Amino acid sequence: MGTGGEFNPKLLGIICNWCCYGGADLCGVSRLQYPPHIRLIRVMCSARVDLAHIFRAFSNGLDAVFVGGCHLNDCHYITNGNYNALGMVKICKKLLECIGINPARLRHEWVSAGEGIRFANIMNDFAPAIQKLGPLGSSEGLDEKTLRFKLEATARLIPYIKLVERQRLRAPLKLRSSSEPEEEYDKFFNSEEINKLFDDIIVSKLVISQITSLLREGPLSTGEISSTLGLSPSEVSRQLNISSKQGLVRYDTGLKCFIAA
Ligand code: FES
Repeated sequence: MGTGGEFNPKLLGIICNWCCYGGADLCGVSRLQYPPHIRLIRVMCSARVDLAHIFRAFSNGLDAVFVGGCHLNDCHYITNGNYNALGMVKICKKLLECIGINPARLRHEWVSAGEGIRFANIMNDFAPAIQKLGPLGSSEGLDEKTLRFKLEATARLIPYIKLVERQRLRAPLKLRSSSEPEEEYDKFFNSEEINKLFDDIIVSKLVISQITSLLREGPLSTGEISSTLGLSPSEVSRQLNISSKQGLVRYDTGLKCFIAA
């Protein structure tokens, strides 16, 4: 909180060395002003930003994360890493939504080294927007403990999500040569086929991961799990049955569920 009691969000920017960092530097040299709540980390390419970095930032109490890179097709590496960053951000936003966190807390932008004004404008838009949203968790109706295990449960699943992304959720290369690649990526990641795939292979695993994270703290009934996670009792029962068949969880005599040893 600021001295006047106003909420000052903690923001993290992870930006590429060759363009966005240059833009931020130019912004500073030109004495353009933007809110002081953002801390920047420089990486060589936006492709270096991993799902794990974003979830670690949120777990460490950051209210929002900004990913900045070179404009599409201007990445300084032959792999055009900013397309990988774009796909990662799209998947990360879906994951945040799944666990009840506002996806607007993650933003990506492309800024060239000559666009100091653009960098300042983005920050002057992003920081107040997050300030308006409020602190991470409480603004989403999640208490500290629930927020922590939801983030932990997702972070635990990241190696699996990355494997699935490589095999099933990667945007086709041909989209990169379209005249509007960002729009094409949007269409791809919001298509019915990808949404169904995401639900089938990631959402159910995410629910199980959240349930097992919760049960690590002690046995709970279906109703207790459902009210803590904000899921319907029928969905919790369905996932518990699957997990019980897989030997992940068991029921005690009082019908409370616990993690199988
Ligand atoms: Fe800037 Fe790849 S070098 S996004």
